[in-house]
Amino acid sequence: MKLGIFTDSHYSSQEVTCGNRYNSRSLEKIKTAYAFFESQKCDLVVCLGDLIDKEASHEKEVANLKKVTDVINQSPIKTVCLMGNHDAFAFTKAEFYEILGDCKPKNVKAKEKTLLFLDACYFKNGNHYLPGDTDWTDTFYPHIDDLKKQLDAANGEVYVFVHQNIDPNIREDHRLYNAAEINGILQKCGKVKAVYQGHYHPGMESKHGNIEYKTFTAMCENENAHFILNI
Ligand SMILES: [Fe+2]
Repeated sequence: MKLGIFTDSHYSSQEVTCGNRYNSRSLEKIKTAYAFFESQKCDLVVCLGDLIDKEASHEKEVANLKKVTDVINQSPIKTVCLMGNHDAFAFTKAEFYEILGDCKPKNVKAKEKTLLFLDACYFKNGNHYLPGDTDWTDTFYPHIDDLKKQLDAANGEVYVFVHQNIDPNIREDHRLYNAAEINGILQKCGKVKAVYQGHYHPGMESKHGNIEYKTFTAMCENENAHFILNI
């Protein structure tokens, strides 16, 4: 299975934020990424979150997300888009996927492979982020029993996708509050081959036990930050 991957595009009308995030350029970069994914005949595109960034008005945020959705919908390749903390700052989960349409993560069961998509846009108290009420340093995945059930039921190799980080090598402020517990479950399961993440913009590659952890570099801070994964 060939996947096209990008993350942390942070698209908005701002030319630059935080000194090195070139927000407004990301729409063109997303178009370039899809042209590349199509040329490489990818089976699926995965956006690992932080697709968009905040604006002064919600109308403008909606307009920006619609522009990105148009690019996604023009492609013959299906896209799955995880919600990042910046998406959650601007949109409820319901509105985000209402605009993005077909991109809501549903676990993919292909021949001898299972792709699991985890939404970690939760505070450690178990509440989901809401517009204007998020914290990039307080992130959590509350559905532990669900995760165990999905791993038990998974066919063959398992690949996990999450916006925030569970790689123990990544700075603690970027990691899920319960990353250690989740890693223990993934390691014990024995089926998990890799964990793919965004959120930590410089990116990272690690290996713990038999699991490869890969954090992709942020599109908004880099040129050509779109990737192909053969799994
Ligand atoms: Fe980000």
